[in-house]
Amino acid sequence: MTQPQSQFKPRHYLMARPTYYTVTYQINPWMHPEIQTDGALALAQWQELHDVYVELGHRVDVIDGAPGLPDMVYAANGGLVVDGKAIGANFTYPQRQPETPLYNAWFEQAGFPVFETKARNEGEGDILTVGDTILAGTGFRTDIAAHKEIAEITGYPVVSLELVDPHYYHLDTALSVFTPDLIAYYPPAFSAAAQSELRERFPDAMIASDSDAAALGLNLVSDGTNAIMAPQATGLVAQARERGFNVITVDTSELLKGGGGIKCCTLELRHAA
Ligand code: ARG
Repeated sequence: MTQPQSQFKPRHYLMARPTYYTVTYQINPWMHPEIQTDGALALAQWQELHDVYVELGHRVDVIDGAPGLPDMVYAANGGLVVDGKAIGANFTYPQRQPETPLYNAWFEQAGFPVFETKARNEGEGDILTVGDTILAGTGFRTDIAAHKEIAEITGYPVVSLELVDPHYYHLDTALSVFTPDLIAYYPPAFSAAAQSELRERFPDAMIASDSDAAALGLNLVSDGTNAIMAPQATGLVAQARERGFNVITVDTSELLKGGGGIKCCTLELRHAA
């Protein structure tokens, strides 16, 4: 039985204000540039998420968005910060590449030295820490060669997981980390080899249904006690409550038009111990 109450400690998050958020190109199947976005609604939903973190006692820093970079709101892709070291993103698509110097400059001024990978990596979109292990997605965005570079920079073992469904193009759309030993995931998003790896390592994992996954319900943030989740992912919300988590739902439907949800908007800044 999970006892999440004992695991609460305030986290430090970085979020990017969606001032310039919109959908003008398509780099994942969720994006439809012909469909209008509502900037005021996106900002209100983002603000609610921000305020929930603050009310829970977490520290949230905000980086400004930049004109012409509509996807910058998805701060999880801005890098990976572990033990006070930042690994800057090396984006696959040219539309997002100019975000890297902006995030890296933010990391530097905040006191996180920046490391780079030669191979493509999209930060916490694909690289998730679970206790002392790093789970790393590949197949659509992050190059498997970057996994090795990340293992070298961080010193943590990296487990490569191949993603196979373009709707779940980043690991954080198909897998969530609740505690250092509890995850949730959507098996059909993974190759057969990745599925058996996950089954073996996490026999007690929560399994997301098709509809939970399709609501990007796995794109959630947990601090070990509280889980911030999409209200549409009713099955996964119920499972998390059964496991003892205090679930707070935040609707980020407007940001889903760009193919991202709660976790995508949240980069965790892990300080050196
Ligand atoms: N439109 C963005 C992209 O395709 C969405 C990124 C979502 N972020 C995430 N961490 N999954 O790159």
